[in-house]
Amino acid sequence: MATTLFNASCSFPSIKVIDCKSYVGLRSNVSQVRVASLPVATSQRRSLVVRASNGHAKKLGRSDAECEAAVAAGDVPEAPPVPPKPVAPAGTPVIQPLNLNRRPRRNRASPTVRAAFQETDISPANFVYPLFIHEGEEDTPIGAMPGCYRLGWRHGLLQEVAKARAVGVNSIVLFPKVPEALKNPTGDEAYSDNGLVPRTIRLLKDKYPDLIIYTDVALDPYSSDGHDGIVREDGVIMNDETVHQLCKQAVSQARAGADVVSPSDMMDGRVGAIRAALDAEGFQNVSIMSYTAKYASSFYGPFREALDSNPRFGDKKTYQMNPANYREALIEAREDEAEGADILLVKPGLPYLDIIRLLRDKSPLPIAAYQVSGEYSMIKAGGVLKMIDEEKVMMESLMCLRRAGADIILTYFALQAATYLCNQKR
Ligand code: PBG
Repeated sequence: MATTLFNASCSFPSIKVIDCKSYVGLRSNVSQVRVASLPVATSQRRSLVVRASNGHAKKLGRSDAECEAAVAAGDVPEAPPVPPKPVAPAGTPVIQPLNLNRRPRRNRASPTVRAAFQETDISPANFVYPLFIHEGEEDTPIGAMPGCYRLGWRHGLLQEVAKARAVGVNSIVLFPKVPEALKNPTGDEAYSDNGLVPRTIRLLKDKYPDLIIYTDVALDPYSSDGHDGIVREDGVIMNDETVHQLCKQAVSQARAGADVVSPSDMMDGRVGAIRAALDAEGFQNVSIMSYTAKYASSFYGPFREALDSNPRFGDKKTYQMNPANYREALIEAREDEAEGADILLVKPGLPYLDIIRLLRDKSPLPIAAYQVSGEYSMIKAGGVLKMIDEEKVMMESLMCLRRAGADIILTYFALQAATYLCNQKR
């Protein structure tokens, strides 16, 4: 997987394949690389040529020895005068400086200094791009998520993936909008080998063999009840019977070529069961990204509109976690680790930074954060209404998820943010 990410390409003509990899914070060093590789600025080209061909500096006047002798004799050449102190506005109080032996502002004084001491960085390789797909030929806009579409699996999706790869995003996660007629109480369409998701994976892998494809493992898009598991007559979500279905779903996705299956259902014991099912079918190399701490959040609203996957009754509070709970995330993390998860995910993202930090500190496994639909839509809406600077808030929110401890971020901003990073000039 790491190798594939490393090969993420970039569309800039003068930049070689891996250039999108290295970033100094929010700035790419793309322009530096460009200078070093191809169209060199004229002044730089000239200075290089002088050094290479003459073998010694062009004679301006006195020799090195003459200059040194002059200085030794006390004949020191004149330097420009010390610049005058900048003037404070009239009325500024004249005071004795505070006697501080630590002034943290010294380490923030200029862009160079700030870049040198920046603790966290972010690059397109950190992003996983969630994409909605449907059976249609056209891309249909999602009202509650400006800029997002249900993409036609055969056309729109491939174009979107190409755009993402061009800016270094080579990981995606698929979410299907399943025709109503294919939904039933046991969500059986979830493991149909010719279903929308397996079919799409095969198409994508045919076109982009090195693309890393994450899949969602849960019954909600396939359930006529809109729940992540099978619902009993009395409303109880049946755990072990659901896990049985999820195993079939994960194996079907792996058979189609998925790289990482991601159970988002929050049933107990599903990671271990899915690991065993994958291994039994020979999919030892397929990873599991577990939605370890997935909260029963109202931030998922726009997503459920996108997939028409709202629970038909009740809520998801008997399986998703209570937003008031912190320690409980550790119980889930320990279970997932013991059961063989490869990546632990926290969801939502920004309102749950403390949980991301908790798992980062308590587990050696990679941590993923999901910046969910509601978080995305709030930033988009604030931007459209000109209440905030959308681009800056987008980049800050992603940086903060990284600072909290996320290795990878699932974000609907993946393409926009990676484009921004690739366009940054030094
Ligand atoms: C369903 C699933 C949900 C999301 C990802 N997988 C919704 C839910 O749990 O109801 C939400 C993602 C988002 O809001 O962006 N298993």
